[in-house]
Amino acid sequence: MRSVGGSYNVISLNAGLLMPLEVIILAAGQGKRMHSRTPKVFHRVLDKPMLGHVISVAQQARADGIHTVVGSQMLDLAKQETEGAINWVLQEEPKGTGHAVLQAIPSISEDSHVLVLNGDAPLIKLDTITAILSEDPNSLVVVTAELPDPTGYGRIVRDERGLVSGIVEHRDATRSQRGLKEVNSGAMAASVRMLRPLLDRLNCSNAQGEYYLTDIVGLALEAGLQVRTVQADDPEEVLGINDRVQLAQAERILARRRAETLMKQGVTLRDPSRFDPRGNITAGLDCSIDINVVLEGEVILGEGVSIGPGCVLRDVEVGDRTRLHEYCVIESARIGSDCRVGPIARIRPGSVLEDEVSVGNFVEIKASKLKQGVRASHLAYIGDAELGTEVNVGAGAITCNFDGASKHRTIIGDKVFIGTNCTMVAPLRVGSGAFLAAGSTITSDVAGEVLAVGRARQRVISRWTPPQRRKKS
Ligand code: UD1
Ligand code: CA
Repeated sequence: MRSVGGSYNVISLNAGLLMPLEVIILAAGQGKRMHSRTPKVFHRVLDKPMLGHVISVAQQARADGIHTVVGSQMLDLAKQETEGAINWVLQEEPKGTGHAVLQAIPSISEDSHVLVLNGDAPLIKLDTITAILSEDPNSLVVVTAELPDPTGYGRIVRDERGLVSGIVEHRDATRSQRGLKEVNSGAMAASVRMLRPLLDRLNCSNAQGEYYLTDIVGLALEAGLQVRTVQADDPEEVLGINDRVQLAQAERILARRRAETLMKQGVTLRDPSRFDPRGNITAGLDCSIDINVVLEGEVILGEGVSIGPGCVLRDVEVGDRTRLHEYCVIESARIGSDCRVGPIARIRPGSVLEDEVSVGNFVEIKASKLKQGVRASHLAYIGDAELGTEVNVGAGAITCNFDGASKHRTIIGDKVFIGTNCTMVAPLRVGSGAFLAAGSTITSDVAGEVLAVGRARQRVISRWTPPQRRKKS
């Protein structure tokens, strides 16, 4: 879709009409079938609440206005959980989808075209929206899909010529209507001029006692107006989430879409059905991701990165050819090229690992910089520290960065050897080339190139009496 004249969208290229596009998102329903204290549309699908996905697609469609209908008790959460300029419209009581649309109409100018989207249908694609908007703007357009199991959806009823004659909700449908597989997705478009009088004529004489938006189809036909349908290519697009089973289905569908995009860009996924892309992922060629990996926030992978099973990465950048072995948890960190991390390593926020760094099992790094070639192969805690190039960190080495009141830094020069079980009490500086003997507690600064030993001297006592077991009386 092209945007002409700055802020207006081209609704119909044929008719050459320029009209503002206003999107109304319906999100005020309680979502009783979720059995939750959280209103339905705020349940998350991968990285966003379902409403957030619908808002995103409306933004991508370059809507001139987005009007989201919510209940007043949801407003604070709605503002907190979504991004972008939204006109929040209150629907005090959820009296039905038609009533919800009606609440938004006063905020929309008379010359606009309206697209209604369901806040509980987060999988609709931009292509489908573009297809709706390229239909004749003088008609009412309904997005439909053929579902193998249409239970719960409104059915599209057609006459013998195949023309739409109305929409009947599942609960109001006859047995034979329930056999119809073509359903209403909930997405509809029409001009405000057409919509307003139709909405005014809605009534609530149906199984749920609600004002159904779907009834405008029958009303439009009675008034001699044109109704058109656009069938979604992919029936999954119209999935409406009413319960947690459907929530999980939507999550898998979206995960698979993102997984397929990555695979088409040259990423190997050992099993795309066991992959959780919960963020924005950029990957170079030939990355390989094993099973049960969770990627959140902004994740940037260089070329040839391999990620082992069970890793969790949140806002992480990883350089070329780096291997993250099994079960690493890495957050807000930058990892260079040719590094090896894990298995079972934890890299916490503010950490930078330069190239060729090796961090092994049960090593925790926090807010620290490890320069090129640092090796910490097992069981260490490095916090608030800077380690120079090629520093070797022995097993059990610990920076004592917290004195109970504040955090202190440890600065270690290049090629320092930190022996096994060293306790480095910060604030501390160790000069380049120094050697900290195993088991030392280092409490004051150490110059370069020296050996620092901070432990009790070993004593050997030859004449001693081993403890005796007391005899039971
Ligand atoms: C609705 C459609 C149905 C369609 C299905 C697709 C109607 C009457 N039925 O049914 O034809 O097949 O969606 O998923 O339109 N909402 C409000 N205010 C209300 C009621 C609902 O904002 O008073 C919102 C809900 O938050 C939800 C959306 O409208 O996001 C749809 O409502 P829901 O109750 O889920 O309708 P369905 O029974 O699924
Ligand atoms: Ca629904």
